[in-house]
Amino acid sequence: MHQPTLPSASSVIPVTVPTAVSTTVSQRAIGVFDSGIGGLTVVRSLMERLPFENIVYFGDTARVPYGVKSVETIAHYTTQIVEFLLAQNVKILIIACNTMAAVAAQTVRDISPVPVLDVIDAGALAACVATRTGQIGIIGTPTTVNSNAYARAIHMVNRSARIFSQACPLFVPLVEEGWLENEVTRLTAEEYLRPVKAENIDTLVLGCTHYPLIKPLLHSVMGEGVKLVDSAEAMAQRAAGLLAEHGWLNTQTCVPHYEYYVTDVPVKFQTIGERFLGRSLSPVHVMKW
Ligand code: DGL
Repeated sequence: MHQPTLPSASSVIPVTVPTAVSTTVSQRAIGVFDSGIGGLTVVRSLMERLPFENIVYFGDTARVPYGVKSVETIAHYTTQIVEFLLAQNVKILIIACNTMAAVAAQTVRDISPVPVLDVIDAGALAACVATRTGQIGIIGTPTTVNSNAYARAIHMVNRSARIFSQACPLFVPLVEEGWLENEVTRLTAEEYLRPVKAENIDTLVLGCTHYPLIKPLLHSVMGEGVKLVDSAEAMAQRAAGLLAEHGWLNTQTCVPHYEYYVTDVPVKFQTIGERFLGRSLSPVHVMKW
């Protein structure tokens, strides 16, 4: 079995811009970011939908979870990540974190000279398409749920939708721990989802990019009658549309370049990420601010 190695001191690098690699806009990478491994769920969909695109991923593993932090702190961390990715010369930015999208999307758009996509818009639209009854459940971090960002985005599309939200703060640490099928995770899910199930919803939005990693477990707790919506696929479709619109799709059909940056020792990130993506995650750089 592939054993990820701990980074040696020399792989802990202050990162510089790889200017020599990218010459045209279409060859530049898509920048994707999250507080930890959750955004890899979006990366997987991007890899499937856009197999020739270069991708730079940033996971702030030293400071995850974000969903229990203040809006000011999240906005500050988000700005740091965005500045880093812009310095990597990305052609678009994808906020693959509902928490950052909920409270800092405008901050990102204000400082970004390149187009910005976020998971909440994509997830809200996917929920509106999926629901038959208009009864939609949202699960997410406390920050995402308290922001009401999903309810607002869904009501823009379907004014009569009825929304039931539930914060699930323990899911992110459980996922970062790699407890994807663990009994503790199941009991936690049963506890969190009991009030949501009682609301007779037909669609449940996984309003945190970490949650698709426990999708089979969530599916078995919610039962057959409830559709689980995650924004990853919808996001990949949006990214494809946006790139096509600008004429920025990478037309070079060579093997794409994937680069991963984290802010703390990447062992768990690498093990869980490789299991989820079904491919080796390399190189993973440890970024020091
Ligand atoms: N994946 C992030 C989200 O979508 C995680 C949140 C966290 O760090 O708490 O909200």
